[in-house]
Amino acid sequence: MPTKPYYAPGSLSAAFYDVVTAADVRLAGDIGIYAELAPPGAQVLELGTGSGRVAAALAERGFAVTGIDIARPMLEQAKARLGSLPADVAGRIELRLGDMTALDLKRAFDLVICPYFGLAHLPAGAAWRNAFATAARHLADGGLAAFHLPSPAAMRQPPADPTAPVLEQPLAGGARLRLYVRERRFREDLGRLQQVIDYVELDRAGRELRRSSERLAYYMADPGPPAALAGLALDRPPIPLGGVGEIWVFRKA
Ligand SMILES: C[S@@+](CC[C@H](N)C(=O)[O-])C[C@H]1O[C@@H](n2cnc3c(N)ncnc32)[C@H](O)[C@@H]1O
Repeated sequence: MPTKPYYAPGSLSAAFYDVVTAADVRLAGDIGIYAELAPPGAQVLELGTGSGRVAAALAERGFAVTGIDIARPMLEQAKARLGSLPADVAGRIELRLGDMTALDLKRAFDLVICPYFGLAHLPAGAAWRNAFATAARHLADGGLAAFHLPSPAAMRQPPADPTAPVLEQPLAGGARLRLYVRERRFREDLGRLQQVIDYVELDRAGRELRRSSERLAYYMADPGPPAALAGLALDRPPIPLGGVGEIWVFRKA
């Protein structure tokens, strides 16, 4: 079966993003960490806002959030989420198609966040330097930028058993979603973890309804140097989250 990139049009990674993240205990508490980084009512820019999981939760707490994402299928879900929110909460969220390596909204925010490994989707190097420059360009002096990145231990996992589901989640009407890691390879020289994840949707009788193989790459590097180049200094020790990553918080001098 041909593989699709993660979050591509028609991908099941986009369609089931909320189902999978809701089941992911390793993300528990991330929103509380971001909310502590700025006072309620602050202006927040989220790079890689995805389906609006974090943007909606921050808007519920009184923040005004601008969320940008490069993937239309993810932004479509974020837009659909707005419709389910109270009007005042939805009114505090602005969504835009955009690339975190080349964004210039010509305005400053109190806080820039890049949750759940958003930056790690991009090769370390020029893309990371540009993403940190984007964060710095959109921050008021003294503002914070928080990037959630995978830990080295999470990147250097052994190959998975492709026959054993890594996740099984109930869906509406008795259907089920199963995820398998079909391939997993870490290249030390590139700091890159490449995975092929099979999404399988089953009906209530266990018959396969949809199946899709999707490629997910994460890149690992020390974020300190590209952040420093952009004028961002580490503000505190990285905050561990869920045993698989850390939230790195930088301050614009
Ligand atoms: C794991 S999701 C995180 C979504 C959301 N922030 C959350 O925490 O649930 C990563 C998101 O980053 C987006 N992304 C990847 N590369 C991007 C880029 N260059 N610019 C903007 N968004 C990007 C993906 O499309 C995806 O929606």
